[in-house]
Amino acid sequence: MIGPRGMACAGGLLARVGSRSAISRVVRQNSPLRPLPATVTAPAVRCWRAQYSTKPEPPKEVTINSKTYPVDPEWFNVSSTILNLTSRKLHLQKDHPVSITRQIIESVFPSPTYLAYNNLDPVVSTHENFDSLGFPPNHPGRAKTDTYYINGTTLLRTHTSAHEAELFKASKSPGYLISADVYRRDEIDKSHYPVFHQMEGARVWDRNTVPNGDVVSAVYKDLEALPKHDMIIEDPNPPFHPDRNPLQPSHSAEEAEAVGKHLKRSLELMVAEIFKRVKESHARAGIQHGSEPLKVRWVEAYFPFTSPSWELEVWYQDGWLEILGCGVSQQHILRDAGVASQIGWAFGLGLERIAMLLFQIPDIRLFWSRDERFLGQFRGVEGDWGKMRPFVGFSRHPACYKDVSFWLPGHGGGGAGAAGGRGGEGEWHENDLMEVVRDVCGDVVEDVVMMDSFTHPKTGRRSVCYRVNYRSLERTLTNEEANGLHERVKGEMVGRLGVEIR
Ligand code: DAH
Repeated sequence: MIGPRGMACAGGLLARVGSRSAISRVVRQNSPLRPLPATVTAPAVRCWRAQYSTKPEPPKEVTINSKTYPVDPEWFNVSSTILNLTSRKLHLQKDHPVSITRQIIESVFPSPTYLAYNNLDPVVSTHENFDSLGFPPNHPGRAKTDTYYINGTTLLRTHTSAHEAELFKASKSPGYLISADVYRRDEIDKSHYPVFHQMEGARVWDRNTVPNGDVVSAVYKDLEALPKHDMIIEDPNPPFHPDRNPLQPSHSAEEAEAVGKHLKRSLELMVAEIFKRVKESHARAGIQHGSEPLKVRWVEAYFPFTSPSWELEVWYQDGWLEILGCGVSQQHILRDAGVASQIGWAFGLGLERIAMLLFQIPDIRLFWSRDERFLGQFRGVEGDWGKMRPFVGFSRHPACYKDVSFWLPGHGGGGAGAAGGRGGEGEWHENDLMEVVRDVCGDVVEDVVMMDSFTHPKTGRRSVCYRVNYRSLERTLTNEEANGLHERVKGEMVGRLGVEIR
């Protein structure tokens, strides 16, 4: 199934693509959709208009990792908050949990079969990020509301798959791994941050170089050489399915089946390694997991760049946890990369999601903390995974909720059902609100949740109410501070988004 961004739909850190819609969140919270009070505080609105500027002027060009790119004001939507994060490279910081997680995964895919690429530039073309992978021109993931653009053809990569074509083309090794920072405009909560890290892997076989041109035998030989594991695997799926998970026309059934088996075993071994480390680390802190073997299941999936495709889920703390997406690479990607004789598989996963498990990190904002109380807990772990222990949280600081109710810009009532939807309501998109909150407040907002949505029966205008939860991970915020931030958020919403505060 395709989520709103058209990749994995179950959401979460793997793909973060199935952003929960605002409406589903309202339902989840059992918050009845009740009309908001009808008082419109016009004087206050005037005051915000006067006090706060409109959209900041975009620069003529931006420099990211010492390369300069021309900005197109029609497209440019990268705030300085985000630009500043492009240099952090958490996946390469010594002893950082994201980097440790990367290294654990790399240990399962050793060189020289798999070459690791950890320093690829975050700025890519729309061709690399979308077209080369078979994303249709109208794919929702391309929207300015979801993706950070520098100009019409240049963006901050939304996933590590953006580098598949170039690495298949380079063809330096039978397999590769990529780790990198990726960027998505998204909601604010404990598991979503506009910058996160992904890991991508791929493995190919070449019909021109395998013995007797027999890819199937070559793949099975490599499969035999892989270690075994003792996990329980649920895999009721056929190797491919004509409607749900088709075989590609240029692949034989035997080839696709063999590649799929190698893919599945390789990724099961990775999950086995990760969860072995989770278990050991938790045991050091006295958290016991029981002695049953780990249970995983394969679920059919859809990605534009693989077929057949699957997701791998792990049974963890009484539920299925989505870990990764993968599949047999679309042959056109290899053909366009000039290596048509190759066939192979690819996978992608979110590193933070796995690091959160490994280290019991409760809030994704913590990864960006420079606080010694956070970073100090992982010191020395990089050279010795035997020292890995769950993170011990700082004392929790009090939350401070503030609500903001406003009329959406435009005529309203036009068609978009949820506030998270597109079109119908002028320029409004929920992610723009998230961006304003991040720009004004940085990391002191824990989440932003839609509480109410109401369409005026006569005018058709829609009013929504969001709750902003101010809670710093590092210190106690005073009510005055939170009030000050909230007033600035409201002002920027009026100036930048054209909403009318109620
Ligand atoms: N790029 C996908 C995402 O961000 C993850 C992914 C899925 C990568 C399947 C792959 C793959 O290489 O085969 O959601």
